[in-house]
Amino acid sequence: MNRRVLAALGSAVLALSMAACSGDGAGSGGNDSDQPGDLTIGVSMPTQTSERWIADGNSVKEKLEAKGYQVDLQYAGDDIPTQSQQVDQMITRGADVLIIAAIDGTALSGQLQAAADADIPVIAYDRLIRDSPNVDFYVSFDNYKVGVAQATALLVGLGVQTKDGAKGEAKGPFNIELFAGSLDDNNAHFFFDGAMDTLKPFIDDGTLKVTSGQTSIEQVAILRWQQEAAQKRMEDLLTSSYNSGTKVDGVLSPYDGLSRGIITALQNAGYKGADFPVVTGQDAEIASVKLIDDGVQSSTIFKDTRLLAEQAVIAAEAFLTDKTPEANDTETYNNGVKVVPSYLLPVQTVYKDDIKPVLIDSGYFTAEEVAAGQAG
Ligand code: BGC
Repeated sequence: MNRRVLAALGSAVLALSMAACSGDGAGSGGNDSDQPGDLTIGVSMPTQTSERWIADGNSVKEKLEAKGYQVDLQYAGDDIPTQSQQVDQMITRGADVLIIAAIDGTALSGQLQAAADADIPVIAYDRLIRDSPNVDFYVSFDNYKVGVAQATALLVGLGVQTKDGAKGEAKGPFNIELFAGSLDDNNAHFFFDGAMDTLKPFIDDGTLKVTSGQTSIEQVAILRWQQEAAQKRMEDLLTSSYNSGTKVDGVLSPYDGLSRGIITALQNAGYKGADFPVVTGQDAEIASVKLIDDGVQSSTIFKDTRLLAEQAVIAAEAFLTDKTPEANDTETYNNGVKVVPSYLLPVQTVYKDDIKPVLIDSGYFTAEEVAAGQAG
């Protein structure tokens, strides 16, 4: 049966027809007789403002197309209704599998129900989709460990700990501030939990002091991970908590875009050179890798999006051939309705010394791109 013909009739008809005559089990993608070229994978990405999602989208598309599949790749401009609409369209156009990196992890239940009704398996890409029974698989990194790695990089940057985990020379007390990502992104909570579990003993014994007193995720979160909002919050913190000669020593930042906003606020306030606060990050965005190379940003967490894309493709292909994708975690990611079987990839901390061995030698960036602070 040609699903594309059915798709033209609309998703309701598609759902009925599939139930009536395809015989596919729940979550089983295409039909036995389908060739890759007959199958379409809908890929819904959140935004193009961050280069990681562009790289993710491109990698998934290239890898699927190399296997002969059709790809319907859409970016939603960080707008929730746009993403809902794009996913709706993918379903009505007859997608055989959906790969979705949600903007708001709680906002797609309706779309996922429509996908389930049309027997379309859903793979949550990097960000878990919450509050829906219709998430079939999750591919991501070990998000709790990202937070642990960020907090550890802050401790290493301050000299409280060494890179091999031993106690460092520095005793503090150090003035720090905390930032978290968007509260509607499940990952933001994992990052912050991992970081706070790591920092708490040092806050409790007085080595670290959060000068503003803002330590809950609600107080430190940045909606939609926006760089400008992080810059504004850092400016406000400098005005409210550092106006009597107290200096910022370190900032826990969960994402390179936020780190750049924080760095701009610190630079505008006169911080420079050896006294520049230790600022962490995530994603190894090229502009931030240059800042690390220049000794401005202290670290980032590298998540190889090429490997994530590969896992998403492996999972999609399993569904398309009536198999169950192989999970390596079946406990951690409860989306509020069920534990979603997951494939989690490891992450790597990148300090200045790691840029060459980790990012350049692996072909992620060229030395020229790092020097220019621009990819491509
Ligand atoms: C991703 C991070 C990214 C952040 C902002 C999170 O869901 O896991 O890699 O930095 O979104 O785009």
